[in-house]
Amino acid sequence: MDVTELQAAYRRVRCATEGLCEPLQAEDYVVQSMTEASPVKWHLAHTSWFFETFILRPHSPGYRVLDEQYEFLFNSYYNAVGPQFSRSHRGLLTRPTVANVFAYREHVDEHMLTLLETTQATAETDIGRLVTLGLHHEQQHQELILTDLKHLLGQNPLHPVYRETPSGAGSATRPESGDDFRSGAVPALTWQEQAGGLSEVGHAAGGFAFDNEKPRHQVFVAPFTMASRLITCGEYLEFMSAGGYQEPEFWLSEGWDAVRRNGWRAPLYWEEHDSEWHLFTLNGSRRIRAEEPVCHVSYFEADAFARWARVRLPTEQEWEVAAEPLARDGNFVENLNWHPVPLDAAHPDQSVATGDERPPSHSGQLRQMFGDVWEWTASPYTSYPGYRTPPGALGEYNAKFMCNQLVLRGGSCATPRDHIRSTYRNFFHPQARWQFAGIRLAKES
Ligand SMILES: [Fe+2]
Repeated sequence: MDVTELQAAYRRVRCATEGLCEPLQAEDYVVQSMTEASPVKWHLAHTSWFFETFILRPHSPGYRVLDEQYEFLFNSYYNAVGPQFSRSHRGLLTRPTVANVFAYREHVDEHMLTLLETTQATAETDIGRLVTLGLHHEQQHQELILTDLKHLLGQNPLHPVYRETPSGAGSATRPESGDDFRSGAVPALTWQEQAGGLSEVGHAAGGFAFDNEKPRHQVFVAPFTMASRLITCGEYLEFMSAGGYQEPEFWLSEGWDAVRRNGWRAPLYWEEHDSEWHLFTLNGSRRIRAEEPVCHVSYFEADAFARWARVRLPTEQEWEVAAEPLARDGNFVENLNWHPVPLDAAHPDQSVATGDERPPSHSGQLRQMFGDVWEWTASPYTSYPGYRTPPGALGEYNAKFMCNQLVLRGGSCATPRDHIRSTYRNFFHPQARWQFAGIRLAKES
């Protein structure tokens, strides 16, 4: 990637972030709904802080920060950079204003584009590599803007609509058909045999990957079978009707504690009205559709569903081995659904590998592997064999979180299409429900 392409990539990603904010009113930028979710304004400033802290300050001689206090306010968790403003109080920052933060973005953009020009940075230079990291970091925050905003709007009994989908599909204005609930035709779930064996996982050379995807290494994967598609709301309702949330036998101990402590009786954003389940989405509230993938479940719920179904969740190694030959296509943020969509003919057939010589039987007919929902795996988030924490403050990016979290794979309807890879490892605590996370099952061969 030469300097012109790098500048274009920079502009494209930064503009995409601001594009997500177009439907927002000033109040929407500021409020924080819980500690784990940050205000949109904070995301906008923090992603700019990242470029300022890791590129402009060390690499742009004479660079003058817009405001010295921003370093403290918008540092997320980098102890090597300095102390941070309390995460749980980000919603109290009415100042700097939204206008101030947009001015901050403009200031950083101007200096970043000038720096790229004067250094003629390509993607292979030190600055270019940092810019690429900063852009992937910003894409992670693009997804968080949507999930955090959804959580905020979801607290409001008015159920504000973020955006109508262009097609109207799944939106609040969609006609409510009485037989919506059971009429959906979704391909039957089938079990796809996977050969397993001695395999390699992790990122190989070429293209960007986060440090936690490296090094590529050998693993032995016993033969297994993978569910052909995601679990639907209809199937999850069967689990609920069978007493899924009432029977401790299906639950991990900590999961059962979470059910009782939080009063869980359905996934997040589900509401029961007159014995019918409704769903809050970024497109508004509507009845649940039996054929759409279930979403906003914790690891505990995904695991309990799998136990109820007498199967299990895949390991991250199984998931990656199965996904590697598949086309990276699916329902991503660019599809403008902001919600998983039912599997039908519109879904790309991911069983067609791109530029891969392996026989199609390697992965069979796996659908919805990329996009729609992050898929919980049974694997704890730990470092790969041979992993070395990167030196300096950026070593804090991923490494220090490798404890007590589970890996999720595949990206979601809020993930930018060019952000995801078969080796990509997302991670959240097992009780987290506000991400677009769903369920794919696996079992022994
Ligand atoms: Fe960040």
